[in-house]
Amino acid sequence: MDKEIPSHRWSISPLITSHLHLYFDMLSLLSFFLLIHVYLTYGAPTTKEPTFTVETKLLQAAINCPQTSQVAQDSVVLIVPGTGEQASSFFRKTLGQLLEKNKYHPCYLDVPNDSVGDMQINAEYVSYAIHSLFRSSNSKIRVVAHSQGCTNVQWALTFWSDRRKEVASFVALGPAWDGTEIAGLVNRVRASLTGGKMVASVLQQTTGSHLLQALKDHGGTKMLVPTTTVMTNTDEIVLPYESGNMAGATNIVLQSKNLCPHRLVDHFTLVTDAISQYAMLNAFEKGGSGMTDLEALEKNKETLCANKLPQFTSVSAGISFTTQSLMSAIQTVVTGKGKSTIVTEEPPLMPYAKAK
Ligand SMILES: *[C@@H]1O[C@H](CO)[C@@H](O)[C@H](O)[C@H]1NC(C)=O
Repeated sequence: MDKEIPSHRWSISPLITSHLHLYFDMLSLLSFFLLIHVYLTYGAPTTKEPTFTVETKLLQAAINCPQTSQVAQDSVVLIVPGTGEQASSFFRKTLGQLLEKNKYHPCYLDVPNDSVGDMQINAEYVSYAIHSLFRSSNSKIRVVAHSQGCTNVQWALTFWSDRRKEVASFVALGPAWDGTEIAGLVNRVRASLTGGKMVASVLQQTTGSHLLQALKDHGGTKMLVPTTTVMTNTDEIVLPYESGNMAGATNIVLQSKNLCPHRLVDHFTLVTDAISQYAMLNAFEKGGSGMTDLEALEKNKETLCANKLPQFTSVSAGISFTTQSLMSAIQTVVTGKGKSTIVTEEPPLMPYAKAK
């Protein structure tokens, strides 16, 4: 039946159609060459990354690598601090020392105003540091963060997506991806003492903040690079502590029944805890998956639950570390280091983070 389609319908324009074919063939050939030309001239097309609002020289100045003389290929660890913490003083005697003992090169990110300002700005420091250390070490880097620092890392990986291929492993100690209920309380107390004034990053870490919603809306609450989270169920800052669970990541709760039930570890001693430190070193192992091997962790639980590291001397400074950390963090939050960190409402979202 098909064969009976009257041929005259097509016979009018054989010349035109063949010309058209030729025309389109030439057009596609032309656009092909044009594409090659564009590719060779401008390189592969890249995704558009947000531009930094902070000056490069300030971003650079925040990176503090004490052992700059050594070649640091495949051994750089970026340490990202939490609220009220200055990385190089806060972590040198704990994570820093432990990393050095294990032949890593810790680099501290000294975010201005001890991270009490706008977290979107703090995340610019993280994004810049990852790229800068990746370039200078000529290899992927490892990242360990505490508390707010975890969210800042995740924010940087979400919106500057080119950073993802520059990070081999990310260990998040005491993160709060869904925020914490207590931040609201802290800010309310502060506001009542200071006539309605609050601290920017504390508002942003309160459950339900615009910042945390934007992170979620842009896919930032799931794993973006090999990630391990470490939580303690006796955390006094992250409430509920399950706010630290991340989809796709290796999630560790110190008190889980295969580890150390009834362990009393707070938000700050989490940094010096043997489980956290073992989890970090294990995740960072060269040639590994970038995530903690839970079986290995559980196999060592007896030593670890006695708060010793199986292969190294523990560097934990215990109680004095906590009190000191807590006091200095509270002080920074109360005084609101840097005037711009004191606000009456949550800082507006940057244009790139607005709803898609
Ligand atoms: C720190 O505070 C100063 C003074 O208010 C401000 O100019 C600066 O932008 C703040 N930086 C960050 C990263 O919060």
